[in-house]
Order: sequence, then C-alpha cells, then structure tokens
Amino acid sequence: MTTESLTYVRPKLGLGSAAIDEQEEQAAVATLRSRNLFRYYGDNPDQPPHRVSELEKTAAAWIGTDYVLAVSSGTAALETALAAISVGPGDEVIVPAWSWLSCVTTIVRMGARPVLAEINDSLNLDPNEIERLTTPRTRAVLVVHYQGVAADMAPIIKSAHRRGLFVIEDCAESPATHYHGRPVGTWGDVAIYSFQHNKPMSAGEGGMLVTRDIRTYERAVRMHDLGQYRPYHAAITPGQEPAFSGANYRMSELTAAIALVQLGKVEGIKAHCRKIQQQVFDLIGELPGLTWRTIADPEGDFGFEIYFYLDDAELVEPFRAALDAREVNCLPRTGTYPQYHRENILTARAHHPAASPFRDMKPWPAPGYRAEDFPVTEDLTRRFIALPIGWKYTLDDATHIAESLIAVHAELIC
Ligand SMILES: Cc1ncc(COP(=O)(O)O)c(C=O)c1O
Repeated sequence: MTTESLTYVRPKLGLGSAAIDEQEEQAAVATLRSRNLFRYYGDNPDQPPHRVSELEKTAAAWIGTDYVLAVSSGTAALETALAAISVGPGDEVIVPAWSWLSCVTTIVRMGARPVLAEINDSLNLDPNEIERLTTPRTRAVLVVHYQGVAADMAPIIKSAHRRGLFVIEDCAESPATHYHGRPVGTWGDVAIYSFQHNKPMSAGEGGMLVTRDIRTYERAVRMHDLGQYRPYHAAITPGQEPAFSGANYRMSELTAAIALVQLGKVEGIKAHCRKIQQQVFDLIGELPGLTWRTIADPEGDFGFEIYFYLDDAELVEPFRAALDAREVNCLPRTGTYPQYHRENILTARAHHPAASPFRDMKPWPAPGYRAEDFPVTEDLTRRFIALPIGWKYTLDDATHIAESLIAVHAELIC
C-alpha cells in the first residue's frame, strides 16, 4: 500500500440525497407554510397550483411524454403500471432474474406469475429471452434499466410487440438515462421512476408512472386513488373507464416539493458522474483479464457506477478487499441479487396461499426458479466488481480510483 493511500479519505457515497441543500429546505418549508399537504385540496380544486401537479407537468416535459402520474413509491408505481395494463391472475410477466425485489413482488401481488429471464453482460435483460419464455399466458415484459444503463430497447421492443406483449420500463435506477438519443421511459408502453433515498433523484420515498396511452393513464389514476377519477384528471382527459377497487398510492405535497427540486438537479448530477467516470476510464486504459460491462449506448449512460468483470470468480473477493483497503468504495451495495435466491421466491408464498401464482407448481422450486436454470446470470453476477461514483466525488477521487485499480490489478492479475 502506498503512503498516499494511508492518508486518503474515501469520498461519501450518494446521488440525489447527497445533493440536498437549502433549495429542498426552502421548498419543504414553503409547502408546509401552505398548510395543505394533500394534492387534491386547496383554494381552487379544479385548477390546483399544487406541487404534485407541477411535478407531473415538469416531468412530462423533461421526459418527453404525454402523461405522468406521481405516486408514493417506485414499488407503488410498478403495481399501478401492472394494474393499469390489466395484469392479473393467470397472466405471466417476463422479468430479469437479476432485478430489485419489487420487480417480482408487485407481479405476485397482482396474482400474476413472474417468469424469470437471463441477463446478458450488460447486466440487463437479454432480448433473446423474450422469444424463449413467451407462452400464450404472457402479458408483459418488465425491463429494468439497471444502475444508470439502458437495456437494449430496440430488439426488446421489436420482439415484445411482435408477440403482442406490453413493455413496462423500470427506470427507478436510471432517470436521465438515454438509449440512442431518446430517454428511457419513452420506449415502452408504460414506465416507472423512483425517488427513494439511494436514487439519482431523491425525496426519501416517492415514484412516478409515465405513459403516452390515455387508457393506461386513466386506469393508473384509478388504481392509485381507490378507483376514483377526480375532476383534476378528468380535465386532462375525460374518464372513459369504469371504476374498480384500487389502492391509495397518492403522493403528498411535501414529497413532491422536494422531488421537484431534485428533478431540476438530476441532469447536473449525471454530468458530474460522467465526468468522474470518464477520468477513471482515461487513466486506466485497457487492463488484461478485466472486461467492462457492455453498454448498448455508452453516450446515454448516467455514469454513476463502473462495472467490470474478472475472468476468475475466485479473484473477486480478494480484488474487492484490496480495493477497499485502499479506501475505494467497491463493496456490493445495490441490494440487487438474483430473485431465485430471495426468501419470498424460496417460500413461493404470497400474503395468502390461494393468492400465490406458484401454488400449483410442485415440487418447488420448479424449473425456472432454481439457480441452475440461470447459468449466465449466475456466472456474470459472481464475476463483477462495481465502483460507485457519487455527487461528492472529485477528480482527485477519480485519479485515486484509477491508480488503485491499476495497482490491485498488477498485484493480483499480472
Ligand atoms: C429497479 C427498481 N425498481 C423498483 C424500485 C422500487 O422503488 P421504491 O424503493 O421507490 O419502491 C427500485 C428501488 O428501490 C429499483 O431499484
């Protein structure tokens, strides 16, 4: 270890939450002073000058879509999206095995069966899996844009739409991320975002759903507000759909006030992360025995996490330990791991035995829900190392990361 690394102080992690300053404070205080934290009440309920409405309008213009609905979390947005496109009992939804917990729990809560798919070396859904896994019961493909990198949307959309499947884009980890010049969230039929604490834009909790389809919008509004369709939404597009029993996933004014400020910061956070990332890449060049994550459109990458694979999975832990000893953040922290290892899949349980979409699949775990069914996902996810980049990182940190990577590579690989 060098003397420099003994004195080096590792930077603090964090994206949107690390960028919170007096702007969010002022927005929160102003909203509190309005004495109205509920989006649908106010002096003029037909034209509410409310934060939630403003967040929806601002986000729609920023993403370049028609309808945005703010909700209480990214998970609520996923459930609302599934309900909006009428996913229910007997249906199947294709979802990458390597994805966040709620990508599966929300499908199960709708009574539908999540069908797990392999990823490829982009750590996103392998587009070829749609053909392999589609059955007469498949309704939708849930695409996750994992950690700031867009999935390969052109072949995904082509394959899914040719088979009559809806495409749901999960942009929770990838706002402001692009694919061939267009933001994620504009490629599929409906998309979701999250404002959870670890995300590039954060209000602690919160989410949004975006779509271009009027019917999906109306059903989403009804799902998130107990089946109701209030005058505010009817003024945007008149209600055509019958009411149904929905949930309460409404966003509060206070959340929206903070989310709005963060929406205004996210492009700056992206530019910062990309600058740091580029410096790391420029200083490293190529290192034998180390392969970068495949990125379908590198220009659209948010740039907040650098991924590389080692050829030898046995070297991953020593490599991480050596980087960590040099004060480089590199320990797994996404909370993502293969769905077939998670407790709720191992038990196959829903909140009630009759509600489990796996109840007739005996013995359990059935094919398609066992580690041995996912050789590619198993291999890739055992061999990667991730280097997070945050809002507090400096170009000196980028230099330290690159020098540490070169030194550890020389020690352990060649
Ligand atoms: C890919 C993905 N989807 C959905 C969610 C759910 O978002 P939330 O935590 O806001 O419910 C998250 C984040 O936590 C996520 O990373």
